[in-house]
Amino acid sequence: MDDAFIAQWLDKDHRMPLPWHRAINKLLRYTRLNVQLVPRSFRWGMANVEARMNLFHLASQCAELGIPGDIVEIGCNDGESSIILQHIANTLAPDKQTHFYDSFQGAPAPKGLDEDLKVYQKGDMATSLFTFYDHFRRVNLPLPADTNVHQGWFEDTIPDDLPDQISFALLDGDLYSSTKHVLPHLYSRMSRGAICMFGVYYDETVLSRPHTILQYRSPGVKMATDEFFSGKAEKVSVLYAGEYTNGYFRKK
Ligand SMILES: C[S@@+](CC[C@H](N)C(=O)[O-])C[C@H]1O[C@@H](n2cnc3c(N)ncnc32)[C@H](O)[C@@H]1O
Repeated sequence: MDDAFIAQWLDKDHRMPLPWHRAINKLLRYTRLNVQLVPRSFRWGMANVEARMNLFHLASQCAELGIPGDIVEIGCNDGESSIILQHIANTLAPDKQTHFYDSFQGAPAPKGLDEDLKVYQKGDMATSLFTFYDHFRRVNLPLPADTNVHQGWFEDTIPDDLPDQISFALLDGDLYSSTKHVLPHLYSRMSRGAICMFGVYYDETVLSRPHTILQYRSPGVKMATDEFFSGKAEKVSVLYAGEYTNGYFRKK
């Protein structure tokens, strides 16, 4: 399966430097300024092309290998990442169902550790079900008639609305409380060999990004994840994603 659709559908192809970018950069090299022009990395959605490529490779691998179970995305926001997962399911594993989860009202009111971390306010990242479906329409991607879009707080939809067996999961809830609540339920339903990718997993001992914005580090995710994996056989690996950092583990 090719991955060119990511650049085309998600409008990321314009990261290609144009001739005038190259010309200006050539001139800039003669100055003492350590700068160059870089095309914008995205126009819509919540991540960059590196993160989308990471998602593509991990999810398509589970589909190609026939890891039993469905494909789930916890924290789907406006559907950009869901489009990638649905296209993989339609192309490589039409027998698998997809399940998408979000409040579509953005983050819940931060409490406890999330309140101390001060990364998100209630309603940050709010979108709508209309926008989610509209993004599928824009790329002309059919959603199965029985698409499983679970609108609500994770604390209400999970675990009750999770499929019994999971082949691939994208956990992208950004908050400590959301990750803490969801991860044990995902883990217990993942098949052997299944992969769970984290939309953010910032580990400064592996890849330090001191100048990146706090939301791209979302430290609560790593805290909740590390607490969960303490004493477990699996280990979370870091994946480069430009200004973001993704992570993943494979269930043993
Ligand atoms: C970073 S966004 C997801 C981005 C998306 N996966 C992508 O890559 O385009 C995080 C999402 O998690 C949702 N979220 C976080 N905590 C939640 C909770 N406890 N219940 C429901 N939704 C939650 C937010 O509404 C937000 O849309």
